Amino acid sequence: MRSRVLAQPPAGSGLKPIHGTYLPTPREVLWALRAPEKAIARRRELFGDISFMYSPLEGKLVNPAGPDGCAAVALNKDKAFASEPGWGLMIGRFFRRGLLLMDFDEHRYHRLILQQAFTADQLRGYLAQMQPMVRQRIAELPVGDGIRIHHELKKLTLDIALESFLGLKISRAEADRVNKAFIDCVQACLALIRYDVPGTRWSRGLAGRRELEEFLRRHLPAKRAARTPDLFSTLCHLNSEEGHGLTDDEIIDHLIFVLMAAHDTSTITLATMTYYLARHPEWQERARAQSRELPATITYDTLPDHTLLDRIMKESLRLNPPVPGLVRQAIEDTEIDGYFIPKGTRVTAMPLANHYNPDLWTAPETFDPDRFSDERAE
Ligand code: HEM
Repeated sequence: MRSRVLAQPPAGSGLKPIHGTYLPTPREVLWALRAPEKAIARRRELFGDISFMYSPLEGKLVNPAGPDGCAAVALNKDKAFASEPGWGLMIGRFFRRGLLLMDFDEHRYHRLILQQAFTADQLRGYLAQMQPMVRQRIAELPVGDGIRIHHELKKLTLDIALESFLGLKISRAEADRVNKAFIDCVQACLALIRYDVPGTRWSRGLAGRRELEEFLRRHLPAKRAARTPDLFSTLCHLNSEEGHGLTDDEIIDHLIFVLMAAHDTSTITLATMTYYLARHPEWQERARAQSRELPATITYDTLPDHTLLDRIMKESLRLNPPVPGLVRQAIEDTEIDGYFIPKGTRVTAMPLANHYNPDLWTAPETFDPDRFSDERAE
């Protein structure tokens, strides 16, 4: 593999150039698809904690993979990285004007408004609302071989989103249509053909986005008229510090993004937890024993008592993070960890790489939730 330089740092800057490759080898592509953590580990061996590669969709793409590089991108202290041009390329067509697709002052403005929908009291309300449904639907989950658990959990999280986040009682047929529209939007984000060609994922995604917008717009007047404890109604009645509320379009854009961000990540997390619990029945037993000792009704304040489920969740997120990378674009010449990043460079920080770093974790390939116990606190 021939090493190249992304760009020469300005003379006298003291910065180092980033090394990497243009087109990935077929072996790298295979690794990236089947075991991205191995592909990243291999690049770290070759180029260190930061490297670049060529992506057909994104052009030259820098990947900070060490803890410091990821932190630099996430904290963005110099405001040199923007999220919208980063994530926008992948998800912008379907999730435009969502919070993750805003930057700087506008991001802060909307985040402060949205935060009012996620106070401890609001979270208490959402939990109380969703609990009976979760209990009933878990009891109804099919048992036996050949169950597509990801598919089952996706139905569950989407239905929770409709009922608890939107506070809507709609027919099964309409709920299925809305759920399909969400799934089509999410799948379209990864489409290879990114034109409105009938029959393609992209085209289904565009139709899905239209369907979601129409659906939410239909219910907006009722939500504006009466205050109910769900997220939809809460967004309709939020105000900024200056007393401005969100417009109809802003509410719809935020809801479509938040519902996607909430249900897709939660589904992947639950499916991964289920997978590891199936592979490790001893952990099923430990978690079940603890849950049986605790009150059957879970409240916001008793959630932290479920320490074993918490460890299992953290370990599942470590091994299979639903969002493995943070996608940004440099909006000015900048640096990460002393390496030169020219303006316009696309940067995807890879926390996933840290999750498998043997310098940070004991036996990182092993499912070992106790690494998150207070005693070990890895
Ligand atoms: C295990 C579940 C979840 C995981 C792993 C997860 C992961 C993430 C990550 C990594 C980001 C940052 C992406 C970036 O900076 O590039 C993010 C942003 C976001 N997530 Fe989640 N998330 C989860 C659940 C949720 C839920 C339940 C909600 C809503 C109820 C939600 C709403 C959001 C929003 C609104 C943002 C954008 C925040 C901002 O830009 O200020 N997420 N999520």
